[in-house]
Amino acid sequence: MDYKKKFPIFSNIESHYLDTAATAQKPKVVLDKVVEYYENDNGNPGRGSHALSIKAEELLTDARKTVQKFINAKKTEEIIFTKSTTESINLIAYSYGLDYINEGDEIILGISNHHANIVPWQFIAKKKKAKLKYVYLDDNDQFDLNDFKYKMSDKTKIVAVSAVVNVTGVIQPIKEIIEIAHKWNALVVVDAAQSVLHFKHDVQELDADFLVFSGHKIFAPMGIGVMYGKEEILNKMSPFLYGGDMIEFVTEQDSTFAQLPNKFEGGTQNVGGAVGLQEAINFLEEIGYEKINEVEARLYEKAMKEMNKLGFIETYSDENVEKTGVIAFNVKGVHSHDVSFILDSYDVAIRSGHHCAQPLMSYLDVPSCCRVSFSIYNDEKDVDKLIEGLKKVGEIFLSKDKSEN
Ligand code: ALA
Repeated sequence: MDYKKKFPIFSNIESHYLDTAATAQKPKVVLDKVVEYYENDNGNPGRGSHALSIKAEELLTDARKTVQKFINAKKTEEIIFTKSTTESINLIAYSYGLDYINEGDEIILGISNHHANIVPWQFIAKKKKAKLKYVYLDDNDQFDLNDFKYKMSDKTKIVAVSAVVNVTGVIQPIKEIIEIAHKWNALVVVDAAQSVLHFKHDVQELDADFLVFSGHKIFAPMGIGVMYGKEEILNKMSPFLYGGDMIEFVTEQDSTFAQLPNKFEGGTQNVGGAVGLQEAINFLEEIGYEKINEVEARLYEKAMKEMNKLGFIETYSDENVEKTGVIAFNVKGVHSHDVSFILDSYDVAIRSGHHCAQPLMSYLDVPSCCRVSFSIYNDEKDVDKLIEGLKKVGEIFLSKDKSEN
């Protein structure tokens, strides 16, 4: 199956797109669904008794059911639409953190967390005089469960971790982390932004307290994200965004708030985004995780083999640990932005820099690196072009003649 054909961008422009971990390209079925919504059904959900408003509300509810099923949440009320993973984590930090984290409490973070799962907790820690603690990496560059056990205590209120590390693609032991945290009655926030494209998350089986992800990394449009929380926890949390449609009654001086999920969905919701997310989930499930991972693994193997042959690439991908199709690497002695710039002239798109993970980068003592990430629409030609571009980087920056001049 030529999956590339399902993504219009690859017919419209020349691109060897190897940056899916930043954002996935969008299949035609998703784009069509969003256009169909705006062309036929656009209305403000929950705001009117006319047909279009009612239809928009129905579509939003239907999309919510698809997400509920996707992560096996017990109830649709536990699915809150946000604009992104970042907004979802901020929601938890503000609404839970400001009310329930107090002076002397501790928040435990993985050192390989994305900034989105660090900075909101820094804010809460400062505001509430709580302490941030980090769990470092074991020999496989994975979240170190021994370090974690050592740092957990009855002061720990929140444990926030990524299910997959955005820089390296390393898969984290989420189930074990949750089990250990719950022994100490701490709540766990799972950042699934990098993992939802690679494996199933059953929030009931995991017993996750919160799980968050963005639509745009799983073929949906930008601007739609998900915050899952257990109903009993969400019910005791304060709202995050105050305004229209999240209220029950408003008087001049006070308000009471709506039931879940509306309590957390102040303002006009992104119905087009939710409809797109629903279609993206259907698309993903139709292909299946097995196929996605098989394509990624095949291209990963080929790329690693050929990159290693070049002799001037340093990779940060430990072979002993379970990973997604991500290769973090540097061309020895060359800044990652220079590498990316030259690859771009070969229409090869990769990410370079600190990857919004500066604490991890400084822990690894790698100030910046390149990152290649594969998905279902990539093929061997993309890897060939990557290698061709990397040879050029070697020629420009590392050739003997140049270094002698
Ligand atoms: N979080 C995205 C990445 O890792 C943007 O590239």
